Amino acid sequence: MQVVSNLVDLRSALAEVKAQGKTVAFVPTMGNLHHGHLSLIKKAREHADFVVASIFVNPTQFGENEDIDNYPKTLEADKKHLIEDGCNLLYLPNATIMYPEPDLTRVQVNRITKLHCGASRPGHFTGVATIVLKLFNQVQPDVAIFGLKDFQQFRVIEMMVENLFLPIKIVGVNTGRAEDGLAHSSRNNYLTANEREIAPTLYATLQKAAEDIRAGKDSFDQIIRHAKEALHNAGMTPDYFNISRQIDLEPAEENDKHLVILAAAFLGKARLIDNITVEL
Ligand code: PAF
Repeated sequence: MQVVSNLVDLRSALAEVKAQGKTVAFVPTMGNLHHGHLSLIKKAREHADFVVASIFVNPTQFGENEDIDNYPKTLEADKKHLIEDGCNLLYLPNATIMYPEPDLTRVQVNRITKLHCGASRPGHFTGVATIVLKLFNQVQPDVAIFGLKDFQQFRVIEMMVENLFLPIKIVGVNTGRAEDGLAHSSRNNYLTANEREIAPTLYATLQKAAEDIRAGKDSFDQIIRHAKEALHNAGMTPDYFNISRQIDLEPAEENDKHLVILAAAFLGKARLIDNITVEL
């Protein structure tokens, strides 16, 4: 695996790849790679001849109270995993490369970015859309791969790509889970042993809500209330638990058919997020 940390080297490596007529798949990450990320690399290999991953802990997607400095950095282990999973090139830019002065431009996707995680983390998705567009412009991939655990992020990026006519195919990969249902996430590292036992309640509660929607007996409001109670009773503090339309993540009406239930909950130092789609 080739490792490059500046734009000149990135462009020259990719020019060679493209001159050979190869297609490029891109997996942007913030490092601290786990099973979930590695399934993104595997999916990337199915979609293109050459796989590029990036690691950049993007400051503009962290809020003032969010501790970017303590974001786990595990570069050597990440490199090892990427090599094992068949990544061809790792791009490791720094903040000066990604946000050169004067740093005046942000990418603002409206409406969808204000809901769910966007309501609790103002500005977060502007940071995400900005860095993803910058990385897309640098790497110029044919395909980019994102995990569906961050369903809202996935839809924000899809909308940005659609609205700006970017010639990039966006592919989502289903959430990887531990046997007890807990979604793979860097945030699981913050859980104590006791919290780790409680954490699968989040997905179990989403599954129960999905069953209740399919059964059609209770109103969405009742289902949401019961779900929040279940999270509280397990020792979690729900941030939000919302039943939404997949298309724009606005609140679902009882006659909508393509739904996604999105949830975030605090458990100790971790804020866990997860979701489940429901087709009626
Ligand atoms: O999902 C992530 O790890 C980040 O939000 C991303 C897409 C790499 C942008 O910094």
